Amino acid sequence: MSLTTTQPVGIFDSGAGGLTVAAAVRNLLPEEQIIYFGDTAHLPYGDKSAETVRRYSLRIADFLLSKNCKVILIACNTASAAAFDAVVEHVNGKVPVINVIDPATEYVAANPKLKHVGVIGTKGTIGSGMYPQKINDLSPDKHVVSLATPLLVPMIEEGFIFDDISNAVVKKYLESHELKGIDSLILGCTHYPIIKNQIRKFYDFETVVIDSSQVVAQKLKETLANHNLLSTKRSGEHQFFVSDYSTYFKKLAEMFFEEEIDLQKVTLE
Ligand code: DGL
Repeated sequence: MSLTTTQPVGIFDSGAGGLTVAAAVRNLLPEEQIIYFGDTAHLPYGDKSAETVRRYSLRIADFLLSKNCKVILIACNTASAAAFDAVVEHVNGKVPVINVIDPATEYVAANPKLKHVGVIGTKGTIGSGMYPQKINDLSPDKHVVSLATPLLVPMIEEGFIFDDISNAVVKKYLESHELKGIDSLILGCTHYPIIKNQIRKFYDFETVVIDSSQVVAQKLKETLANHNLLSTKRSGEHQFFVSDYSTYFKKLAEMFFEEEIDLQKVTLE
């Protein structure tokens, strides 16, 4: 069956982090209906094996297809690193699939001002080595260093933001010798834009802090346009699903979307 413009856009993450990407999509493409899935029962993905993250991701892809989505956007770096190829293979050409790593690495590779680039992300994302590899494939002269910062996702999901605890954790990580001398820092986890200003403040607003949500939303726009799938009129309310109910998730989603949301819990088999 062929796809139509009025079908929703499917977005997923392990939890609330992907809302940073979903909000950028909503701002850039207000006529698109979004269906968001946060796998809160299995969060964090960052310390799970690639095989486990793949298994979760394929289940979520099936869920989004069952909701009639016309595209799947993997709004999670860990799942993008571990499961993008598997999701593409699994959906077998039924819908286009977008990850968050390619748009970010293309953006950095194309920017000559960024020479000594740091990447922070989960253990899974950093361990995959994908950021340095993809940036250097496109632009071999860039010096790319990376650091796993595993405490940040649980900290953010627990609501420790803009306080002394999170400032201490951010400082401890960003002072690491791995990141010395960088001119730019990629937030290689979709949760991190939630604390972007804390990170910018650590650097006295001097180091370029790259939040890829906008370039990812732009990539989605191009992909939909290439498939003649851009919507011109929103066909329904945005919908939010989680695998485990979380009031924090609801609060964040309402903050990002500036509307009351009806959060639904679903169990994926
Ligand atoms: N927001 C995800 C990412 O970009 C999630 C991380 C996690 O669940 O550990 O990597």
